[in-house]
Amino acid sequence: STLLDELTRMTGREDPYPRYRRLREISPIVRADDGALVITRHADCLAVSRDSRLGHIPSHMLDFVSPGWPDHPALKQLFTSILALNPPDHTRLRRLVNSSFTARRVQALGPRIAAMVDELLDRMSGEVDFVEAFAFPLPATVIGELLGIPEPDRAQFQGLVRDWTQVLETHAPEALAVADPAAVTIREYLAALVAERRRQPADDLISALVAAEEDGDKLTEDELLTMAGLLFIAGFETTTNLLANSVVALLHHPAQLALLREDPGLAPAATEELLRYDTPAQLLVRVAWDDVEVAGVPVSGGERIVAYLGAGNRDPERFAEPDRLELARADNAPLSFGGGIHYCLGAPLARLEAQIALPALVKRFPKLDFAGVPGRRDSLAIRGYTNLPIVAA
Ligand code: HEM
Repeated sequence: STLLDELTRMTGREDPYPRYRRLREISPIVRADDGALVITRHADCLAVSRDSRLGHIPSHMLDFVSPGWPDHPALKQLFTSILALNPPDHTRLRRLVNSSFTARRVQALGPRIAAMVDELLDRMSGEVDFVEAFAFPLPATVIGELLGIPEPDRAQFQGLVRDWTQVLETHAPEALAVADPAAVTIREYLAALVAERRRQPADDLISALVAAEEDGDKLTEDELLTMAGLLFIAGFETTTNLLANSVVALLHHPAQLALLREDPGLAPAATEELLRYDTPAQLLVRVAWDDVEVAGVPVSGGERIVAYLGAGNRDPERFAEPDRLELARADNAPLSFGGGIHYCLGAPLARLEAQIALPALVKRFPKLDFAGVPGRRDSLAIRGYTNLPIVAA
């Protein structure tokens, strides 16, 4: 429990991995002070993500967990989105979004992503903050482009999205005071955009969502705005962190960085390894709906389970020398996009962005290096940097 305490404080956030290891060695399933069961093995994390007897807090129980949540726009956006819903609501909405957010639509973005990467790299020289100059604008531009958000409007969302994402960590009044107005602004913006696309459809995801229909079923206006809001938010932050975490990992492993510089064909394998090595989404939370067994331990209905993906990704039972960054690692299977019915919808997009961006970056700057100490984002669930000073040379 001291280990868990440390993980939830800044001391543990800087480098949680040794603590994950000690935790797993003590026991792969541990009860935290708040009653939640914490699991750290790869196989157990995977099983939990796929177990249909586990899910998110049922909506009728949310009132106990987060009283008054419907009055908070930030929580409403979260709890009514596919990220937090259970079947059958989840199944229905996920099918409707799957029909719009297709592999074809993502693949078609490849050339645009490559052009955006070049444009951003052209603007970088000397000492720059990698988060501000690249890791944030790239995914923001890509998701903006995908959804169909006009270019000049995109910049304003950086702060708004960051404010909203506080609710992924805490529902404390101070956090809600910041997150709620952000959620309202984002939703109002998207409502205006949806109205425009209803009048005049374009070749973008918003228009596809407006038109989406499965077996005569359609998204309501409310569902459409919640879906667009979730895609928008999910598309920003996590990919930003993947890019920044990757650069830090590569700079700490110059020989591995050199491999990627010499062989851009390594990019797909390198992306999987970087996702594994320092994943942006460190944990999944589930609730048992019934009495079940998890990791060999009986769990009662209503109990919470926290799967530490970051720990499972470093499990020596699954990965040889798990603390080593090895871009060409064979048979890689990072847990980083979750699993089961909530498997990350944006995984193909996030992968494509990293696969294009990382080799281009290291090739463009042969003397790429740190220019100062990176600032750690104050979160365990979302692992990343607030700023990352680099020398782009
Ligand atoms: C779900 C991680 C990028 C959209 C998830 C989940 C994880 C995850 C772990 C599962 C959550 C759970 O089971 O509780 C990541 C990481 C990313 C990334 C590490 C980048 C490196 C994206 C992008 C988008 C996106 C770019 C959208 C454009 C979503 C959505 C869900 C989701 C909509 C909910 C799916 C569902 O519940 O059915 N993501 N994600 N993600 N992600 Fe991502």
